Amino acid sequence: MGILDDKVVLITGAASGIGEATAREARAEGARLLLSDVDEARGTALAQELGGATFVACDVTDESQVEELVATAQRELGGLDGAFNCAGILGTIGMTADTSFEDFKRICDVDLNGVFLCTKHELRAMLADGGGSIVNMASAAGLIGWPGAVGYVAAKHGVVGLTKAAALEYATEGIRVNSVCPSYTETPMVSDLFENLLGGDAAAVEAARANHPIGRFAQAPEIASACVWLLSDKASFVTGTAMSVDGGYTAP
Ligand SMILES: NC(=O)c1ccc[n+]([C@@H]2O[C@H](COP(=O)([O-])OP(=O)(O)OC[C@H]3O[C@@H](n4cnc5c(N)ncnc54)[C@H](O)[C@@H]3O)[C@@H](O)[C@H]2O)c1
Repeated sequence: MGILDDKVVLITGAASGIGEATAREARAEGARLLLSDVDEARGTALAQELGGATFVACDVTDESQVEELVATAQRELGGLDGAFNCAGILGTIGMTADTSFEDFKRICDVDLNGVFLCTKHELRAMLADGGGSIVNMASAAGLIGWPGAVGYVAAKHGVVGLTKAAALEYATEGIRVNSVCPSYTETPMVSDLFENLLGGDAAAVEAARANHPIGRFAQAPEIASACVWLLSDKASFVTGTAMSVDGGYTAP
């Protein structure tokens, strides 16, 4: 018995990092998966490896692609019970006064508008199916400021807000909508931050680690476990929350 037995679960950004880890745990908990990403090669390979999983390429910034992705769940998997909107980018690092409008719009397009588009079409499918659970990927940067990442912080605060609005709108329709707020998690995104965007600055990495009361960064499966729980009926009384999964990072 798994906590997602027979549930159809859609995951965006499933080809890497936290999305991939969540796909692995959701499958182990019995979910039938619709995996999606812009990275078709890795996404297809993961779906084949896991079994019980279908992959559909989708750029979450394109509404027609998102609509078709959700329609695939309804058409080929019999409906949609859960969705984890995890696709995201970090964008550029730099001071606000030095950030181009193009860079700001790009991060908002993927990390905020993409979550909106997915949530919108998933809600429509879940209304037709009589309920479901949506988990939106925010960040600790959706709860507090991070200097040097104005677009990312704005987009993630937006995800927390849109999640609360949708949760209130559909609370009586059997649809729960929550966001998760991890701090630094060891994935390709964070490796890229440390190695390329911060130029391998060991002191900066150590300072980031030291800001975690638990004394270390997260591993992707530790975030995945929270997401799988929120997707499951075990979280039946949880909606509208922005769940910190951050080793105490935002507690001070
Ligand atoms: N790693 C962290 O420390 C951390 C902390 C808090 C929140 N997050 C959030 O978690 C999510 C996943 O991050 P990760 O660390 O696993 O990164 P990752 O880079 O390992 O995975 C992100 C995935 O999203 C996909 N993607 C990017 N743009 C897309 C688009 N337009 N449409 C569809 N797919 C797209 C990528 O191809 C990739 O597979 C992101 O939203 C990120 O902001 C990460």
